Amino acid sequence: MRKIKSGVVGLDSLLDGGINENSTTVVIGTSGAGKTTFAAQFLRRGLEAGNDALFVSLDENQNQIIKEAVEMGWTDIHGYLDDGSLVFIDASGKKFSKFIRHELPTFVEQWKGSESRIVVDPLTPVIWSTEGRYEQRELLMLLLKETKNIGTAVCTLEEHGSRGDLSGNEIVIPMYLADCVIHLKYSRKGGATSRLLEIVKCRNSRHSPLSHPYTIVKGFGLLVQGRTRRISQTKKAPQALKRQLQKYETSFSKRVWKNITTSLDNLNDEDFADVDLTQLVNDLVTTYSEEKGKNAKKNG
Ligand SMILES: Nc1ncnc2c1ncn2[C@@H]1O[C@H](COP(=O)(O)OP(=O)(O)O)[C@@H](O)[C@H]1O
Ligand SMILES: [Mg+2]
Repeated sequence: MRKIKSGVVGLDSLLDGGINENSTTVVIGTSGAGKTTFAAQFLRRGLEAGNDALFVSLDENQNQIIKEAVEMGWTDIHGYLDDGSLVFIDASGKKFSKFIRHELPTFVEQWKGSESRIVVDPLTPVIWSTEGRYEQRELLMLLLKETKNIGTAVCTLEEHGSRGDLSGNEIVIPMYLADCVIHLKYSRKGGATSRLLEIVKCRNSRHSPLSHPYTIVKGFGLLVQGRTRRISQTKKAPQALKRQLQKYETSFSKRVWKNITTSLDNLNDEDFADVDLTQLVNDLVTTYSEEKGKNAKKNG
C-alpha cells in the first residue's frame, strides 16, 4: 500500500507513514473541531508536492472558503487557483443526487488517474438530501467510488448531538463506507477547551489506538501531538511466540502451522503490545488442536 503525506502535522506517524493512496478518509467532528482546516492542509500538501487538488464544497461558497484559508495562514492559495492546479467545485445549493450521478462523472472522466487529492466538505448534506437508508448508502458509495478514480479523498462529516455519539444514521453509513475514519473530539466546558484526535479505523494500515491532543495554529493548521507510548517495530515478541509454539507444532495441522508462522513473520512488537504471550500460546493450542482432530477424523 503506497502512503501519501496527510499534510496534517504529527498525523502521519500515527498512520504508519501517512494516508493510503487512493483511499477515502472521513473526518468527523462538531462545528469548530477543525475539519475544514484538516481538509485544506491535506490539499495544500498535495499541491506542494506538485499534484492537483479538487475542493468540492457542499455548503460554503468558494470565496468564503478561500477567505478562511488565507486567514488560517494559507497565504499562497491564489497562486494554485491561478495556475489551475487547485480547482473548486461549488456544489452548495445543488441537487446532490443529480450532481453526484451526472455532473461528477463528467468531471472524473477529465481527471481520471491523475493522482489528485479531493476534498468533499462536508459530506453531511448528501445524506440529508436523500430519504431512505438504501439511497443514502448508494449515493455515498457512488461518490466515494468516483473520487477514488481521481486519487485520494478526504471527506468531512458534521457531528451533532452529544459529543462522541457516532451512532446516528448520517455518521454510521459514511463511517462504514470509508477506508479510514478520523474523529476530531472537540469540547468546550466552562472555560476549558479540549481537542483530541482519534483514528477510529483505517483499512490496510497500522494506526495508533490512542487519542491524541491537537491544537490549531495559524499557518500550520492542526498540530497533533505524537504518541505517548513508544511503538516498537522490532520483532522480539512474534519471534518468542514462534519459539514457544514450536514445542506444540505437532498439535497443529500442517496448513494451520504454515498460516500461523507466516502471520507471525509479518507482525512486530507493536501488534503484541497488549497481549499476554503465554496465554496466547495456550489459546492457540486449544483453538487448533480440536480443529486438527476433526480434520484427521474427516480425512481418515
Ligand atoms: N485565523 C485563525 N487562526 C487561528 N485559529 C483559527 C483561525 N480561524 C479558525 N481557527 C480555529 O479553527 C477552528 C475552526 O476550524 P474549522 O476547520 O473551520 O472547523 P470545522 O470545519 O470543523 O467547523 C476554530 O474553532 C478556531 O479555533
Ligand atoms: Mg467546516
